[in-house]
Amino acid sequence: MKKINIAIDGPAAAGKSTAAKKVAEKLNYIYIDTGAMYRSLTYKALQHQIDVEDEKALTNLLVATTITLLPSDEGQVVLVDGEDVTLKIRERDVTNSVSFVAKHQTVREEMVRRQKEFAEDGGVVMDGRDIGTHVLPNAELKIFLLASVEERALRRHAENLAKGYESDLEQLKAEIAKRDKLDSERAISPLRKADDAIELDTTSMTIEEVVDKMLSLAKAKI
Ligand code: C5P
Repeated sequence: MKKINIAIDGPAAAGKSTAAKKVAEKLNYIYIDTGAMYRSLTYKALQHQIDVEDEKALTNLLVATTITLLPSDEGQVVLVDGEDVTLKIRERDVTNSVSFVAKHQTVREEMVRRQKEFAEDGGVVMDGRDIGTHVLPNAELKIFLLASVEERALRRHAENLAKGYESDLEQLKAEIAKRDKLDSERAISPLRKADDAIELDTTSMTIEEVVDKMLSLAKAKI
């Protein structure tokens, strides 16, 4: 069977990674969470007290950093220079700084170079903000996931509570809306639906429905 590449983009907490992971698993494809790569660099920058506005220092840091994405039973393990940062990169300090780190041109160029390499042989489900527009413009299937800010905040809130984390719904809503604004309004590769992407509003869909829809779209291309 032909191995295609699938690009999944959309705003923060739209369920991209949950759906993308399941689709990859069903198709026996590799799942690449590009947000985890920007989060990994942000984590390391915060540790080294590098200013999120300092493009040159961030780029040098990235060039010297190995980011490894490994499949696991829970979906994906993220290693930064061999350290397991899977949970640390989801913490609030990283989440609230990542969009500043991700806006820099030379940081993005290096990330995109690495991401294109992952997809060279096909068989990849990659999620992010610019996958359909910049990273994999030739992906056979492009999906743009949407959901209202309220619904996305509610989902993240439920996830946090289920994991035993503290969570404030109103604060989540404000943080998600702020990240959407920064990601959509930045000059370099802003969050945008590719012209040939299929839009899927998941506000009133379950995760199973989203996965089924994506799988049927993928199977039509394989
Ligand atoms: O997908 P996730 O919410 O984990 O992404 C974290 C952040 O990384 C986004 O808010 C965005 O600033 C940045 N990002 C990006 N381009 C991508 C993936 C993520 O700019 N392809």
